[in-house]
Amino acid sequence: MCGIVGYIGSHQAAPILVNGIKRLEYRGYDSVGVAVVNGEIEIKKEVGMIDKVNAVHCLDKMEGTRGIAHTRWATHGEPSKRNAHPHMDCTGDVAIVHNGIIENYVSIRKMLQEEGHAMASDTDSEVIAHLIEKFYEGNLETAVRKALLQIQGTYGLAAVHKRENKIVVARNGSPIVIGVKENGTFAASDASAILEHTKKMIYLDDREIGVIGPGAVVVKNLEDKKIDKGTQEIEWDLAQIEKGEFKHFMLKEIFEQPESLKNTMRGRLGNEIKLSINSRIEDSERLILVAGGTSWHAALIGRYLLEEIAKIPTEVDYSSEFRYRNPLIREKDLVVVISQSGETADTLAALREAKKRGAKTLGIINVVGSTIAREAEMGVYLHAGPEIGVASTKAFTSQVTALCMLAVYLKERKRGETDIKLMRELSTLPEKIDSVLKNKDKIKDIAGSVFKHNNFLYLGRGINFPVALEGALKLKEISYIHAEGYPAAEMKHGPIALIDENMPVVFVANKGKGYEKTLSNMEEVKARHGKIIAIATEGDEDIKRLADWVIHVPETLDILTPVINTIPLQLLAYYIADMKGLDVDKPRNLAKSVTVE
Ligand code: AGP
Repeated sequence: MCGIVGYIGSHQAAPILVNGIKRLEYRGYDSVGVAVVNGEIEIKKEVGMIDKVNAVHCLDKMEGTRGIAHTRWATHGEPSKRNAHPHMDCTGDVAIVHNGIIENYVSIRKMLQEEGHAMASDTDSEVIAHLIEKFYEGNLETAVRKALLQIQGTYGLAAVHKRENKIVVARNGSPIVIGVKENGTFAASDASAILEHTKKMIYLDDREIGVIGPGAVVVKNLEDKKIDKGTQEIEWDLAQIEKGEFKHFMLKEIFEQPESLKNTMRGRLGNEIKLSINSRIEDSERLILVAGGTSWHAALIGRYLLEEIAKIPTEVDYSSEFRYRNPLIREKDLVVVISQSGETADTLAALREAKKRGAKTLGIINVVGSTIAREAEMGVYLHAGPEIGVASTKAFTSQVTALCMLAVYLKERKRGETDIKLMRELSTLPEKIDSVLKNKDKIKDIAGSVFKHNNFLYLGRGINFPVALEGALKLKEISYIHAEGYPAAEMKHGPIALIDENMPVVFVANKGKGYEKTLSNMEEVKARHGKIIAIATEGDEDIKRLADWVIHVPETLDILTPVINTIPLQLLAYYIADMKGLDVDKPRNLAKSVTVE
């Protein structure tokens, strides 16, 4: 997902802009550009990482007190200098940066070219600059509004005109947040880019335009009607979006999990579960959990929790499948959308589809003020703090914990029964995670023994089958090693053909439900010279006769084992990727929040 930063005020804009887009690097990008206004619009842009481009082009030395900056994640047009943002109109009076996809750009481009506009790039975004030029009659905001009315698709946009002391921003499907402060006003595609300057944020909604001057903000809709948007104070601080003594954000966030889990449970565990849910969801007769990626794995675990604890029939769907499969929604359905970023396009579209079909909707979200959080009827925030690493870790364990609390909440309200034993065990999880983290050196040693392999199989049973999927995804997305997650019992239906001494097999093999059968699966792998890494319950020494490596984890209730079992799998993936010298926080081809469809 592209990064956008804008600033207008009494300070030099360039250092603020460059520092801001650096804070968005974790989202993944291939090129960078800055436009600063100082009489004329000066633009510098290039393919490459920010530090390298800045070293050559001195981006942060450009002079002017208003400007916009962009990190591009190519969608239309390959990564190149000409396709990097900002883009200008024909006259050089207008510059824009854009995040999103313009679905009708081909017809717009053709129309503009027939009217004499000369395109300088292969991107869809550039047509916005020329549309603004086409409609400009002395007011940038009016020209932007008219331009956007021509567009089908998504945008997060910032635009400047050399003669107007303002920046005009707009959003439809790609987030834009405005930061307000006495000596200047900021805009960004993510609050973390401007957090060091202000915590007072205004979140634009779809089809809204923000006109920002030095210390002033006016928000209107596309019908030119003024909208009164309050400011929200965000709860994060700067330390939370910096690595500190950790080599990578991902490692920092893995080690934050005892704290992030405490924050997810804070104020909610007691004689009963306290969730600020303002509707009678206990009348729901079916839950449909909808998410993507790691959040979908949390949803799969959520189904076990909700059916076992709350006895409510629960389905799970990929957001991308749900939104297109014409889902049959009944009046008593509750659709629960799960998203760390709260901006995933497929999940946002699934939420809107569910609302359109009359379902109650509930969001389990980490980023406060995100689009999904604001559009869901009700929600449970994770309070896990900002998750910067592209590979989701602490958000996942917090999502599972939140789903467990939701299950207990529903049980209490449907049957008047409180599950004290479960809540007490939930409160011990941060400490148990801490003890697993203390095992990091052993996990690092195991990574050192297997990081050269090219294929892995992850196997788990029951509520730990999604943990196998999650462990495999962690490895895939940051080490680029092929890995598959499977239900352990399914191995004999095909995957066992893959087993040989070159295929490490990771078993989630806690004592408890399915343990004996899992040992049989391990025997089958052993008989084919497979290498076995086992996640086992503390005190289980027998398993060493089958496993080449054993990672012991503290005992807990069967239904809470996923929260504990995921930790060593996160660390295993992290150390393998780091040993391969890969960019753990910014894996190739991936973005932290997938706001394009
Ligand atoms: C997880 O490690 C990935 N980065 C990705 O699968 C992610 O979980 C997915 O894109 C969903 O993101 P969300 O939770 O922000 O909606």
